Amino acid sequence: MKKKEIIKKTVEHIKSLLQTESSGHDWWHVYRVWKMAIRIAKNEKNIDLFIVEFAALLHDIADHKFYGGDLTIGPKKAKEWLLGLNVSVEITDHVASIISEISFKGANVATEMSTKEGMVVQDADRLDAVGAIGIARTFAYGGNKGREMYNPAVKSQMHDSFESYTNNNSPTINHFYEKLLLLKDRMNTKTGKQIAEERHVYMQQYLDRFFNEWEGIE
Ligand code: NI
Repeated sequence: MKKKEIIKKTVEHIKSLLQTESSGHDWWHVYRVWKMAIRIAKNEKNIDLFIVEFAALLHDIADHKFYGGDLTIGPKKAKEWLLGLNVSVEITDHVASIISEISFKGANVATEMSTKEGMVVQDADRLDAVGAIGIARTFAYGGNKGREMYNPAVKSQMHDSFESYTNNNSPTINHFYEKLLLLKDRMNTKTGKQIAEERHVYMQQYLDRFFNEWEGIE
């Protein structure tokens, strides 16, 4: 099978799997990450675009958030899919390792990527968590989890472990401080960092306005 054909089949597979997803990890999230990953990869040197495209398309095939924090299920499902299309074991293993490393696991938990392709895809995924889309996805996710939008009495926390990060149920606004505003300093590539910085400024303006409207000031 030609590379183009394999990508096309993978797109269709993920589209049908994630079609009814409503927490911000739907097919269109994957679509944006895929497009952004290609853009970043083209700006960086010596990147295997094929690996980047696969990892971007398959990175949320089975998100740990919906499997009780199990981080092994995503890579396993991606592997099965690619091997089923006769993609080489080498490529399959590389893609699976990117998927197992990619997730944000808490403010004080390091999540380093071991390959350049992984760095590109992690940046693209994180960029979709910031800016205008990031704001929209954060509220969609909070609503899906039944969280309060904002509660001035509940303070943000910097999580030291994946467990405490994933078990937290604080208001959606706290998530900006516990994750989203930290992302610009955790980007891997130059291109990713540039885009993240612009989106960061936009989110800060949004939050200023949010708190002012909350108090009837603006
Ligand atoms: Ni994602």
